[in-house]
Amino acid sequence: MTRDRTISLARPDRNTALELVRATEAAAIRALPWVGRGDKNAADRAAVEAMRAYLNTAAIDGTVVIGEGEKDKAPMLYKGERIGRGLGPACDIAVDPIDGTTLTATGRNNAVSVIAAADKGAMLDASSVFYMDKIVTDHHGHGVIDITQSIEDNIRALAAATGKPVDDMAIAVLDRPRHAALVTRIRELGAATRLLSDGDVAGGIIAATPGSRIDMCVGVGGSPEGITTACAVRALGGFMQAVLAPSDDSERETAESAGLDTLRVYGLRDLVATDNTIFVATGVTDGDLVAGAARRGSRVRTESIILRGRSGTLRRVITDHALDKWQ
Ligand code: FBP
Repeated sequence: MTRDRTISLARPDRNTALELVRATEAAAIRALPWVGRGDKNAADRAAVEAMRAYLNTAAIDGTVVIGEGEKDKAPMLYKGERIGRGLGPACDIAVDPIDGTTLTATGRNNAVSVIAAADKGAMLDASSVFYMDKIVTDHHGHGVIDITQSIEDNIRALAAATGKPVDDMAIAVLDRPRHAALVTRIRELGAATRLLSDGDVAGGIIAATPGSRIDMCVGVGGSPEGITTACAVRALGGFMQAVLAPSDDSERETAESAGLDTLRVYGLRDLVATDNTIFVATGVTDGDLVAGAARRGSRVRTESIILRGRSGTLRRVITDHALDKWQ
C-alpha cells in the first residue's frame, strides 16, 4: 500500500491536534485551583489566560471564529483574534475554555475545556444568535431523526433503528425551565431523562458515541457550544441537526441580516462544512466523558480526548504534568 506522506501546511492536520490539546490541558490545570470555590468568573479567566498563552505558541495560523465574546467585551480569545505563531496550517478555531463554568465553581461533574478546529471558513458563524435547538444521536440517527418531528416520533424512530425498547432509551436534556414540557413528554412516552445541570457539549458527544449511556441529547443550548459539538460529532460519525432559537425579534433580525436563516434546519454539514475537523477536550472536573484534572503530589494528571474528523480516530490522552516546571 502506498501512502501519501506529504505534510500539508495549508490545512489543520494530526499535528495540529497535539498543539491544541496542550492548550486545553493548560486551561484545565489553571482552572483546578478554582474548582468548588464559588467564583465562576475567576475560573473562566484562569482558563482563558492559560489557553490563550498556549495557543499563541502553537504552530498554527488560526483565527478565532467562536470565542469568549466580541473584542471590546472580552479582551482575550475574542472572535476574529489571530492566534498561533502564524507558521502552520490556516484554520478556524472555536474555543470554550470552560464549558460548565458553574459546574466548575460549584465543584460538580462534567466541566470540560474545549477547542475545535476546522478548515478556514468551514464553521457556521451563528454568533448573532445566542441559542440553538439541537438534536444529537449516534450514527443510527441518520435518515430516521428529524428535528421538525415530535420528540415522541424521534425517540420511537431511534429506538427502532437501534433495536432498543423505548423504555431503555436515555435522553439528555439541559435542566432548564424552558425544557419542562419536553422532559414531561419524554417521560410520558416511557423513555428516561438524563438532566444536565450544564454542559451540553459533553452531553452531545456522549450521545454521538455508539453504545454510550445516552442515546440522544436534545433541546435548546448555546449556539457556540453547538458548533464545537458538531466538530466532534462529525468525527464520531454521529447525527446532528440544529435550528437557531432567537430569543426575540431583535435577535431574529440581527441573525437574518447576518445571513442566517432562523427557520432553516441546519444539518451537520451546514454547521461544519468539512470533515477536516479536530476536537479536543480536557476534563476540568470529573465527568462521563473524561476525568477531571487532579493533583497527585507534585504533578497534575489530566485526561483529554482528541477526535479527528478525517480519520475518525478518538484518542484518550492522559498526561502527568510536573508542576515545578510550570511558571
Ligand atoms: P458556560 O460554561 O458558559 O456557563 O456554559 C454552560 C452551558 O450549560 C452550555 O453547555 C450550554 O450550551 C449553555 O450553558 C446553556 O445556556 P443556559 O445556561 O443559558 O441555558
